[in-house]
Amino acid sequence: MRRKLAAGNWKMNGLRADLVQIDRLLELHPAPRIETMLCLPATLLHDAATRAAGHPMTIGAQDCHTEANGAHTGDLSAAMIRDTGATAVILGHSERRHAHHEDSEVVRAKARRVHQTALTAVVCVGESLAQREALNTLDIIDGQLSASIPDTSNGTNLVVAYEPVWAIGTGLTPTLEQIGEVHDFIRARLERRFGPGVGRAVRLLYGGSVKPDNCAAIFGVSNVDGALVGGASLLADDFLHIIKALEAAV
Ligand code: PGA
Repeated sequence: MRRKLAAGNWKMNGLRADLVQIDRLLELHPAPRIETMLCLPATLLHDAATRAAGHPMTIGAQDCHTEANGAHTGDLSAAMIRDTGATAVILGHSERRHAHHEDSEVVRAKARRVHQTALTAVVCVGESLAQREALNTLDIIDGQLSASIPDTSNGTNLVVAYEPVWAIGTGLTPTLEQIGEVHDFIRARLERRFGPGVGRAVRLLYGGSVKPDNCAAIFGVSNVDGALVGGASLLADDFLHIIKALEAAV
């Protein structure tokens, strides 16, 4: 049985004053029956990990460097992230693939480093609108999966997030059938590459405009083990609604 996972991605949002949202979440719902995760700006990781200690909430970062250390001004290593108390890292988010020109080979090298550092990699894949309209979605996902996911992956150190680029921050979502098709495809690909044991253990998240009012339907789709939530994870009350909907889907 895969443990459901509600993961939030604050992106470049949040000052220390906003950590009260985490306090509120932990106070309102101290013992969720699923795993919860918040992926925060680096400036908040240590404070958040300290607040979440003793709670079943994971704190994650949103990127890291491929190298262990060295002359990389402005970058963060996986070991630095681990040193804050965070235990997961989002990699290959479309905003990094596009704005920072990260290709799948770079994402794989980062994920390998994350694994070597005993952290969990949340690897994002997803097609653009043009790719979907050209009926290339599954080919694109296939290519991104094989090139972005390292051989060091196992059922606990890898989470895959399917995030259609055109659904992120737009209020648009694929149909439930389209989500199910892609998630079933990702599951089959992971089973083929890593064998049924590992392939069935990896959690698959849907991401892209997940909101309190559409999450319950999405959580009913096969092979959807949770969500990666951007905008709706910024306020404790919205994220809590999504967490409770995922609990209800267990
Ligand atoms: P969104 O972002 O929920 O605001 O669409 C999701 C993501 O980019 O992870």
